[in-house]
Amino acid sequence: MDKLELRVMAAAGTLLTVFLVSLLYAVTARKIDVPACVPYSGAFKQAQVKQVDSNTYEGFFVAKMWGFEPSEVYIPVGSDLEIYLTSQDVVHGFHIEKKGVNMMAVPGAIGKQTIHFSEPGVYKIVCHEYCGTGHQNMQSEIIVNYPVK
Ligand code: CUA
Repeated sequence: MDKLELRVMAAAGTLLTVFLVSLLYAVTARKIDVPACVPYSGAFKQAQVKQVDSNTYEGFFVAKMWGFEPSEVYIPVGSDLEIYLTSQDVVHGFHIEKKGVNMMAVPGAIGKQTIHFSEPGVYKIVCHEYCGTGHQNMQSEIIVNYPVK
């Protein structure tokens, strides 16, 4: 085998190892929730938000031409929002402003990611995947408020 070829293979192997170790570090030590794909279930056809416990909510989001359901979500400050995302028609994007969330809404599949909201505010969700003539109007909001006492 050529020496250059060996070096390139060693460099590729090293980069792959660095990538896998970084991913493992993010998931275990930093507890960063890496986007996942859960098995498609016919049970999730209704867009809704459910409270699981005092600071955990499940948000079932449906993307479709050209909007997201639910179009507004209210959760208290300090909540974890477990997002389940699917699409009713074509592939859409799902970007949450100020959170660095970048998911894809794919018909026939459910994406899942958990996001912690420690600061109050209005977090816009926008579609960032061109999906047709109404693409630029596709948005929704997560409103994070202090709980009413
Ligand atoms: Cu949906 Cu762009």
